[in-house]
Amino acid sequence: DTGHFTYDPGFGSTAATKSAITYIDGDQGVLLYRGYPIEQLAEKSSFLEVAYLLLNGELPKQAEFASFEHQITHHTMMHESLKNFFQGFHHNAHPMAMLAASVASLSAFYHDDLDVDNPEDRKLAAIRLIAKMPTIAAAAYRYSIGWPMRYPRNNLEYVTRFLHMMFEVPSEPLQLNPVAAKALDLLFILHADHEQNASTSTVRLVGSTGANPYASIAAGITALWGPAHGGANEAVLKMLEEIGTPDKVETAVKRAKDKNDNFRLMGFGHRVYKNFDPRAKIIREMCHKVLGELGVNDPLLDVAMKLEEAALKDEYFVERKLYPNVDFYSGIIYKALGIPTEMFTVMFAIARTAGWIAHWIEQHETPGARIGRPRQVYTGSAPRDFVPADKR
Ligand code: SDX
Repeated sequence: DTGHFTYDPGFGSTAATKSAITYIDGDQGVLLYRGYPIEQLAEKSSFLEVAYLLLNGELPKQAEFASFEHQITHHTMMHESLKNFFQGFHHNAHPMAMLAASVASLSAFYHDDLDVDNPEDRKLAAIRLIAKMPTIAAAAYRYSIGWPMRYPRNNLEYVTRFLHMMFEVPSEPLQLNPVAAKALDLLFILHADHEQNASTSTVRLVGSTGANPYASIAAGITALWGPAHGGANEAVLKMLEEIGTPDKVETAVKRAKDKNDNFRLMGFGHRVYKNFDPRAKIIREMCHKVLGELGVNDPLLDVAMKLEEAALKDEYFVERKLYPNVDFYSGIIYKALGIPTEMFTVMFAIARTAGWIAHWIEQHETPGARIGRPRQVYTGSAPRDFVPADKR
């Protein structure tokens, strides 16, 4: 076996999971959400409309979107006692730790009126998760910097509401540049789903046991946190800061090729894309535009561009088909928006919640879907008899 993870999703075979949500062609660098190219959605849609598309399979008519947005807006508050939950965290707890714990604890608030076999309950859970993720994420950030939490404001659209909860302070009105909300909305679209990646496979496997959606999504959050997966965006910024200046890039590329050096070019390579990650292309162009519109001049962008140029012409990376992935440039934009490094993977989690819950629902709606059961190739001892301790 190629070491790739396949499990019998209950279709009576050990074929890979079947899904109608997202299509990737790794060799051609193609990414479709419900058949729509990511490039078109990035240019013409919004994150909330894409969330509707992932959940329902079709782009919403105006009345359908208005109803969906109204439901989301009226589920953004978290239970007041969940606010107290944060007081128990250590003051410098990582926001991903707080996010995973808080989302798992939503099970305690909604567990008794949730029947995972009831389609209406499943849809309500999707609304609650997409609606509350920004509120919980912003609360984790505010707790980590000792600021009072802010309630969601229903007169704001989804991403602007999140930025207000993140950055608004009682002492002065928040001056939000509309470029920031547009840029973050686009990043959320690009991160919304990606078929059977590690965290989505985790959500599906946990969900296949009948576990409630909040526990399933919390499992996805913890899987995403790893630096080989969603944690890479935070790791890329740390790597760029460690490299420091463009003249140090050649040394970094040499280290990344040295098997005795565990230095990896974070934001490079992908399990599936053996061509440019189409999301990375869009984010790279966005970088220049957003930093220009925000009047931000970040020297790390020069380091990133020099690193990309050096890696793309180095035979080690070329022969291994290692290209920049979605995480390579996103951190530079998050930083320009004032989002701290330790919150980068939280941004990824907010967006991917739409994909995770769409997959969780799809699995429940798949006829014959059974509990996932990863298989293995046994490499242990042959059968043998027990040896008493005094004979070992
Ligand atoms: C995401 O699955 C998804 O869809 C994920 C994601 C999503 O939207 O959900 O796209 C989001 O997780 C993107 C990936 C973010 N991770 C990183 O940027 C971390 C750095 N990348 C590597 O850790 C790695 O590329 C992975 C984890 C992404 C992929 O790991 P693989 O499958 O082991 O990589 P590979 O099989 O393509 O590796 C082939 C070779 C190996 O060397 P050899 O054994 O052939 O000598 O390339 C090497 C690897 O060691 N290699 C790297 C490298 N990535 C792979 N060498 C240096 N730097 C790197 N970044």
